[in-house]
Amino acid sequence: MVQKILKYGDPVLEQAALEVTEFDTPELHALITDMWETMYAAKGVGLAAPQIGISKRISVIDISVGEDESKKIVIINPEVTSSEGKQTGEEGCLSIPGFREPVTRANQVTVRAQNEKGAVLELSGEELLARAFLHEIDHLNGILFIQHLSTLKRDIIRRKIKKLQKAGEWD
Ligand code: NI
Repeated sequence: MVQKILKYGDPVLEQAALEVTEFDTPELHALITDMWETMYAAKGVGLAAPQIGISKRISVIDISVGEDESKKIVIINPEVTSSEGKQTGEEGCLSIPGFREPVTRANQVTVRAQNEKGAVLELSGEELLARAFLHEIDHLNGILFIQHLSTLKRDIIRRKIKKLQKAGEWD
């Protein structure tokens, strides 16, 4: 089922999510199905469980945005085990709609994570996939992409969002 995506300002987005300890359960599969449906409905390349109000260390990523089934990645309890290089590119977030800013991140990363069955996987990605891994893992640590911007840029965005909130256009 498509779930509501929480927007910046909701405290769950800035909390560290909890480790997943039970795998291959109907609840976990249902949650991941909801995350895929919600992400595709919003035309995103990634979604973290806290964005739908579930404070668990689970993210889904598909840099093909539904074009290529083989690109679907579920990462549970992920950790970055190595990173290399640098890239700067425009980044946005489904929880901060309407705002995109350049963010500098590693260009290549290796991630250790578990899948829905609890098996440990090691995944590598570069460019957009590296960016998606890092953005989604940040979410699980309560970090949003605007935290990578300068204080000045972040304050401008915060002020604009406050105005939208007051106008009832940020919910
Ligand atoms: Ni995001």
